[in-house]
Amino acid sequence: MAKSYKIAVMPGDGTGPEVTAEAVKVLKSAADKFKFKVDLTNFDFGGERYKRTGETLPDSAIKELRKFDAILLGAIGHPDVAPGILEKGILLKARFELDQYINLRPVKLYPGVETPLKNKGPDDINFVVVRENTGDAYTGAGGFTMKGTPQEVAVQSAVYSRFQVDRCLKYAFEYTRKYGKKATGRGENNTLALCGKTNVLTYIYDLWERAFHEMGQKEYPDIKREYYHVDATCMWFVKNPEWFDVIVTGNMFGDIITDLGAMIQGGMGIAAGGNLNPEGVSMFEPIGGSAPKYTGKGVINPLAAICAGQMMLASLGEEKAADTIEKAVMFATAKKLKSLAAGKMGFSTSQVGDIVAEKVAE
Ligand code: IPM
Ligand code: MN
Repeated sequence: MAKSYKIAVMPGDGTGPEVTAEAVKVLKSAADKFKFKVDLTNFDFGGERYKRTGETLPDSAIKELRKFDAILLGAIGHPDVAPGILEKGILLKARFELDQYINLRPVKLYPGVETPLKNKGPDDINFVVVRENTGDAYTGAGGFTMKGTPQEVAVQSAVYSRFQVDRCLKYAFEYTRKYGKKATGRGENNTLALCGKTNVLTYIYDLWERAFHEMGQKEYPDIKREYYHVDATCMWFVKNPEWFDVIVTGNMFGDIITDLGAMIQGGMGIAAGGNLNPEGVSMFEPIGGSAPKYTGKGVINPLAAICAGQMMLASLGEEKAADTIEKAVMFATAKKLKSLAAGKMGFSTSQVGDIVAEKVAE
């Protein structure tokens, strides 16, 4: 019998539904070609539902989502809803409650895609950021005192446990061994770089650094270890992106450097990420946001959502189907699309989905 995957689809807000429809189109095309099934269930969590019912992502939904093999998310963010409510109530809640402790962000420049970096091409911009996804300043530890007075104090703590650090490092080392530059024939070594701030954050990044070298020495002597401060990491992303293979970092620095990564790989039209619980339910998303001003116009680029679907299939073990989707995306960027920018692709949103879906089916 053909394998069947239960997928929860959360199209969300703004252009989320449009790009998700194209990702689903491509998933179905890959499923047909590679003889597996996708059993899709839609959920309408997002800004519209919040405005109607006051509900973000209720506990009952979390319970429901645990029964799926994976979640495909479109975009969260609504112009009429104050910042933070949907992010915390939906995206971060899913990440925390489902313990999606890895945020995996490939930074890969596809052929034909324009990068703002002069004289850099696809061979130079091809690395992965493994961002820890549950700790740091994101835990909500902190508070106000004397709020609203001139003496007000706000504290928000960066928190890390050895357990959180170790499980993230383990994932990063294993990932490097499997997909590093040596493993994939792109270089001499498989290299994992820790991105931190050991010169100032002398508690949490001291913990990260000790854990990193202890685990590396003991269990991964075949993997080359490097260390970069976060500010230097930003510098080298721009100057020498070809230095990087796999990078592991905490939640906050990971948030910041992956936006820089997204820009050097061609921007929000192409960047995708996975919120992974390797032992549980993972959630995949284009990282571009809901782009409300383009809603319903059919001009937004669906490639990032399609890439999120591709990452989802890879994590479900459908690596061949995932590879085929990636190659079809590269065909689209190299041979078809004029630009990745909304309204400038030379095609509509659904035409881009058709190009990729048809290439996958070939
Ligand atoms: C991301 C986003 C989120 C984050 C926001 C929307 C809460 O920026 O996935 O990178 O900060 O993690
Ligand atoms: Mn971010």
